[in-house]
Amino acid sequence: MAGFRYHLKRLAPAVSKNPVKRAMEEGAEAMDFKEVVENRRAVNYFDTQRDISEDQLKQMVEIAAKAPSSFNLQPWNLIVLRDHQDKLRLQKHAWDQPKVSEAPVTMIVLADMDGWQPGHPVMEKDFAELVKIGMLQESQREWFENGCKNLYGTSDARKVAFACKNAGFFGMNLMLAAKSLGFDSHPMDGFDIDGVKEAFSIPDNYWVPMLLAVGYFRKDKTLLPPKWRKSYEELLVRFD
Ligand SMILES: Cc1cc2nc3c(=O)[nH]c(=O)nc-3n(C[C@H](O)[C@H](O)[C@H](O)COP(=O)(O)O)c2cc1C
Repeated sequence: MAGFRYHLKRLAPAVSKNPVKRAMEEGAEAMDFKEVVENRRAVNYFDTQRDISEDQLKQMVEIAAKAPSSFNLQPWNLIVLRDHQDKLRLQKHAWDQPKVSEAPVTMIVLADMDGWQPGHPVMEKDFAELVKIGMLQESQREWFENGCKNLYGTSDARKVAFACKNAGFFGMNLMLAAKSLGFDSHPMDGFDIDGVKEAFSIPDNYWVPMLLAVGYFRKDKTLLPPKWRKSYEELLVRFD
């Protein structure tokens, strides 16, 4: 019996629970972090014949959701578009960029400007969770609320900054997660925010920091060479 079980175990291919390992089992290339960062490119052309499965999409979003955020408030959401008509509707408000509809999945990344407000369901869940893990005490509720209000809610500019810096981390993670799973992506802010908000009935509390097309690069196209980046010396500044 033990031998039979052993035999079965060897025959059955192991399906890894780790999403990156699973992607590799399904043919994606193994890449370390530096390779993921270096190989991620904004690709202009997507293979319209290759889809991304629901499972792959979920893996990608769940990896990206590990992004850090202010007090862990995670003020981001996603609208995922797969339907061609929906994507064309978005494309109309996005400088008619063809990749919006050519990618199998195009996402509208949402940044929640109210994500720090008392009574917001995510803020309430977050506070309860922070208390549960012992990072905050129930008695620190007022301190927490005032801290959030002073940091993120004293002006419209601060509300946008709170929402967009955090959603930006999530967006970056989405692109790196996509690459690590074997997909390509393209971020876009070339769109009319009011048009997009109206077309998809997006509530007022959301800013739209970017659209993100995800799929597979079209093999008959050539990617432009890697773009320039600021050097270490160009990056460092002081103003005092
Ligand atoms: C927030 C953001 C918005 C962007 N918007 C557009 C866009 O609307 N259209 C476009 O063709 N490229 C857009 N890009 C792509 C950039 O031009 C590209 O990332 C940059 O030139 C560096 O190239 P790389 O991503 O291949 O390294 C955007 C990138 C970011 C991060």
